Amino acid sequence: MSHHILEVKDLVFSYPDTTPALNGVSFRITHGEAVGIVGANGAGKSTLLMHLTGCLFPGAGSVRIGDHVLTRQNLNQVRSRVGMIFQDPDDQLFMPTVFDDVAFGPLNQGVPAEEIETIVERALETVGALHLKTRPPYKLSGGEKRRVAIATVLAMSPDILIMDEPSTGLDPQARRQLIALLKTFEHTKIIATHDLDLVLDLCGRTIILHQGTVAADGNTHAIFADEKLLLDNHLEKPLSMQGVQNDVGATVTQKAAGCRAIRVD
Ligand SMILES: Nc1ncnc2c1ncn2[C@@H]1O[C@H](COP(=O)(O)OP(=O)(O)OP(=O)(O)O)[C@@H](O)[C@H]1O
Ligand SMILES: [Mg+2]
Repeated sequence: MSHHILEVKDLVFSYPDTTPALNGVSFRITHGEAVGIVGANGAGKSTLLMHLTGCLFPGAGSVRIGDHVLTRQNLNQVRSRVGMIFQDPDDQLFMPTVFDDVAFGPLNQGVPAEEIETIVERALETVGALHLKTRPPYKLSGGEKRRVAIATVLAMSPDILIMDEPSTGLDPQARRQLIALLKTFEHTKIIATHDLDLVLDLCGRTIILHQGTVAADGNTHAIFADEKLLLDNHLEKPLSMQGVQNDVGATVTQKAAGCRAIRVD
């Protein structure tokens, strides 16, 4: 399905204050791929994702979604297919109630009013936030806001799901639920995150950004097994890949988040 292909070519972008953020980024993502975008703070992850949804336009280079090179003219057409979950949920939630926020996208897509309630409730239920339906978004906790932000995008049934730090602020159970939910989403997923365990769980492919360029692009397991590459890019092996040698010589795999060493006396 060519309309789900996403191609970034020689993308260059500097912010108006002249801070350089992307310095020639290229890659191609095909339908159904799940791709993790990782890298140090300031590497350019959020800036890149904002180009994929037309929140920013390149200084040079191009973004192609399916058959269209993204321009201001075809922005609405492209946005109806690409759903973006922003790094800060406050950038996504601006209506008086949670219901209105989740209904906003489908209403703009022209979904008939009588179908809206079902769509909103299904999206909120999927993220475990149906009980928040009548609340004002600005009075929610950080994790609750994030669940609702995810629902606003799911309600639009995008072909391509783009997420900036989707697990930040979620409690461990909500994080697990998010991972399970994302596993059921069969279309293309692009996830920028510092949560490398989440990438390992969800993304067969990983792109490392470093100072606005692609430092690596390939199989997630192979990239996360390359300690020098990770170190050079301010990254650490996911906890679930950190084998520890215990006193009896057996390798123990650290599964529990936050557990840096396992002692066996
Ligand atoms: N609004 C802005 N104005 C000027 N410079 C900016 C702006 N937003 C980001 N930058 C700069 O652009 C570069 C890339 O930032 P970006 O937010 O894309 O990084 P990131 O990889 O998403 O980082 P993080 O992991 O902290 O979210 C950084 O040098 C940053 O300081
Ligand atoms: Mg960011």
